Formats: sequence, C-alpha cells, structure tokens
Amino acid sequence: MKMNIGNCEVLLDYPIANLEKLIGEKRAVIITDSNVRKYHENKFPKAPVIEIGQGEEIKTLKTLEQIYEKMLNLELDRASVVIGIGGGIVCDIAGFVASTYCRGMKLILVPTTLLAQVDAGIGGKNGVNFKGYKNIIGTFRQPDAVLVDTSLLETLDLEEMKCGYAEVVKHAAIADEKAFENLENCDDLFSVSNLKDIVPKCAAVKVNVVIADEHEHGERMKLNFGHTIGHAVEKILKLPHGQAVAIGMVAEGKIAVQRGLLGEKEMSRLENLLEKIGLGTKAKMDAKEVVDAIRHDKKRRDESLKMPLLCGIGNAKIVEVSLEEMERVINDLY
Ligand code: GLY
Repeated sequence: MKMNIGNCEVLLDYPIANLEKLIGEKRAVIITDSNVRKYHENKFPKAPVIEIGQGEEIKTLKTLEQIYEKMLNLELDRASVVIGIGGGIVCDIAGFVASTYCRGMKLILVPTTLLAQVDAGIGGKNGVNFKGYKNIIGTFRQPDAVLVDTSLLETLDLEEMKCGYAEVVKHAAIADEKAFENLENCDDLFSVSNLKDIVPKCAAVKVNVVIADEHEHGERMKLNFGHTIGHAVEKILKLPHGQAVAIGMVAEGKIAVQRGLLGEKEMSRLENLLEKIGLGTKAKMDAKEVVDAIRHDKKRRDESLKMPLLCGIGNAKIVEVSLEEMERVINDLY
C-alpha cells in the first residue's frame, strides 16, 4: 500500500531492498544506531554509515554536531540524500539533520521499531532535547519517502514490541474502532505475520491525521492521547515510553469517564486490551508531582491545557482540562 503526505511517499509494507531504487544515482549517507546496524547492516544499501548511540540521552545538539562534522568530511551537499534507518530516535535525528544541513537535503526514513513504523517515522516531526525539554529544538519536515518493512520487526525484543503497541492502541482508540476490535480479537499480537496486517492499517491512521493537520493546530493533537500524563509518568517513574503512555491513556480515559464522554464499558475495553498486550495500566504516583511535571513539560504557567479525550472507542476530541481536575482524577485512581 502506498500513501502520500504531500510529496512524501509512505510505502507501507515494502521490502527494504527497494531503497536502492529510491536512492537512484544520488550520493547518500546512512544514519543508524549500533543495534540496528548489528541486525540489519546486511540489508543496507551501499553508502557510508554514521552510527549514533542509543537512548533518549543522545538526542542532543552535541550528537548533531558530530554528525554534521562527518557529513562535511564526506563532502555531502544539498543534492545528497540522508537515510535514517532505526527507531524513533534515529528518525528524529536524521530528520533534523536532513532539515538543516545545507539548508535541507533529501530524506528517506526506514523505521525499524513498531513505534517508529506506526508513529515516529511518519509525519515529519523531528528534533532533539535541550535543557531538559523534550524535542524543544526541531522542525516539521516531511521526508521524501518513508519505507515501512514489517519483516524488520522480527529482531525486536518483546518489551520493545509491547511499548510499540501502546501507540498502535492509541491510534485505534482515537480514530478506528474496527482496528481496535481487531486487536481485541487477535490471538497473537506479536507474530510478524499478524503485524504485517496490523502495521499498515495503523500507520494509515497516522498518515490521515497528518494529512488533515500537518502542523498540529487541531486534529493532530489527538495523537497526544495518553501522552500528557504519560510523559510526566515517564519522567518521574523512569518507565519506558510505551509503558508510561499506557498508564497515561488509562488516566486520561478516566478523566473522559468522569466527564461523561466515555462509558465505563469502553474504559474497561481500553484497560483490558492494554493488559492483554502486557502493558501496565496503573502505577503508584503522587498526583501533585505528576501535575508539576506536566506544567514543566508544557513550559507554561497556565492552569489548564488543551488535550485529547476519548469520546468512545475510535473517537476523540480536543478539550480544555484544568490541572486541578487532572490532579483530582489521578488522586482518585491510586
Ligand atoms: N507522535 C505524535 C505526532 O507525530 O504528532
């Protein structure tokens, strides 16, 4: 399946072997990390490789500087193509490099994790962290192509797979009830043959949201479902992103229930699906600390914020929620 976000071709379930054709005669550089290189280098096209470290800590200006220096040494120019092969961090960094080096180069992304194939690799957001703020320096810049090859998921470990599923559930919950039902009924969510079917459908949800609102003025904010509280939980409890987002989706789901937007039965469906995947739905946390982290994350002193709440399975809307309401609901939860 092929979809387009403007000039960006999103190639859903295309073998990585197609990369050679996409690059053509252009000079190229591959940005990847050591783990992806270990498992997949034999499938890389012929091009110099710049290897970066792993983990959120390497999303820094210093990493960018090291990459720019290597690119200068390789004498790359505006007509060259940056190929990011990896998870969300590689996609974020490769995207920013391609957006800034020589005022912009061609960019192809090959996301290799479930999270990146359905979410981070699609939509043109990139960036690095600065002074404790996540993705505070970055641009919106659609790649020229995103190539999603689900066979690359075969080397993922179970924990990483589960974390990616948090974003799969998120997409289904905000926009696709049928996809949500399919996940509920699927007897082996982790088999790559089932993922071959699940990933393109889930990625298509993301593509359609980005087409509707590329620069996040409204519709795209729905993709933040679970992330307002999730980011705070991730920071405080040092949980993996997907685990924190699962807890965030449940807590934000409860706000929707209290407001009468979401039924108790639908709330249970969300919790049951996350539990079936093996994602935790609750964590012991101090509501005040969570709300303080949200305030810091949003870089504002406002006492309320706009966020998506579910109004049914497969449906969400953007509403104003006060931090006081959030604190109250989190307090009631635990
Ligand atoms: N991952 C959320 C977005 O792309 O907007």
